[in-house]
Amino acid sequence: MIPIARPDLGPEEIAAVTEVIQSGMLAQGRRVALLEERWAAYVGTRHAIAMGNGTLALMSIFAGIGLEPGDEVITVSHTFAATANAILFTGATPVFIDIEPDTYLIDAKKIEAAITPRTRAICPVHLFGLVADMDMIRAIADRHGLTVVEDACQAHGASFRGRRAGSFGHGAFSLYATKNMTTAEGGFVTTDDDALADWLRLYRNQGMRARYRFEMLGFNFRMTDLAAAIGLAQLDKLDRNTTRRQAIAARYDGAFADLPVGLPVTPDGRVHVFHQYTVDVGAGRDAIVAELREADVGADIYYPLPVHRQEYIMERGLHAELPVTDAAAARTLALPMFPGLSEAEQATVIEALRAAVGRHADPGLSTGERADRDTAAIAR
Ligand SMILES: Cc1ncc(COP(=O)(O)O)c(C=O)c1O
Repeated sequence: MIPIARPDLGPEEIAAVTEVIQSGMLAQGRRVALLEERWAAYVGTRHAIAMGNGTLALMSIFAGIGLEPGDEVITVSHTFAATANAILFTGATPVFIDIEPDTYLIDAKKIEAAITPRTRAICPVHLFGLVADMDMIRAIADRHGLTVVEDACQAHGASFRGRRAGSFGHGAFSLYATKNMTTAEGGFVTTDDDALADWLRLYRNQGMRARYRFEMLGFNFRMTDLAAAIGLAQLDKLDRNTTRRQAIAARYDGAFADLPVGLPVTPDGRVHVFHQYTVDVGAGRDAIVAELREADVGADIYYPLPVHRQEYIMERGLHAELPVTDAAAARTLALPMFPGLSEAEQATVIEALRAAVGRHADPGLSTGERADRDTAAIAR
């Protein structure tokens, strides 16, 4: 099976990990601080705070900005559940709005209608490696005095008008094994806010600055030195691997240009880092995924059941009408995308998708057209 993702781990990571093991300092050494320094410089923020994973990074930001029960955060349902869960962790409420049909990102035009006196923050998710419309989101946030929390867990190095994901507000990154850069499990918060950065460093370390002097309520959300050693080697490769992902995406684009499928779009001024290469294949999606898997192509669906339709979210009364999100969940699939995908493997993927789409082509509507139709139907 050609996997959907395969981490790029090699002699550099093995040497880095070996060095840490030989040093005997597995947990708290100098590498975490070094990785933080380099990540902050890479993203372009004053601070990067390493965390145990991306979920903890999100949870810590939401806790750090002081969210409380009753507060609302505007976000999307077309995401990994951790985005909403981290908001719920504080007792606050995620308010789901719909996505744009072409980018699958938060539809910034819909944000203002969702703002209430309880709204505290906007949390765009830079899904699949593409940054949301940060001009519009920042302008709305500034106009209404809201905090911007970027879920940049899938967007290492992606940019919007020359600024990197995670530098428009407080950013959360994941370093999970399948991400564009990994430490197996790991994460970062990025921020320009000195006070928040200081608070986060305490929060992730049991509230301790000096040994056994607990200044505030905190926990153990730390990254290990072992993980940071892998992260440093991964960061050295990130730009090269991003370029490779973009080349793979360009080859897919060319190979599918004549098919009746929706291909990923990159609006002007943005750099897409292709964490995923997602296509809209229409109503035949499930049959196409099954055929791809039969052909040993590890296609996958991100995400088949949107967050607003998960049982525990519905039970909390957080359901919303999100036709574009529902359409994306029903019609899209992701193809193998990782720097080590060989030319031959990619040729196999291309051939398999072309054949499957040929058999199950949906001559019907695109995600956007279908969403418009559904919206019109709801309005009637
Ligand atoms: C969009 C998004 N948000 C949050 C997370 C959570 O990150 P982690 O798995 O490192 O906790 C992920 C990663 O899986 C993600 O893709």
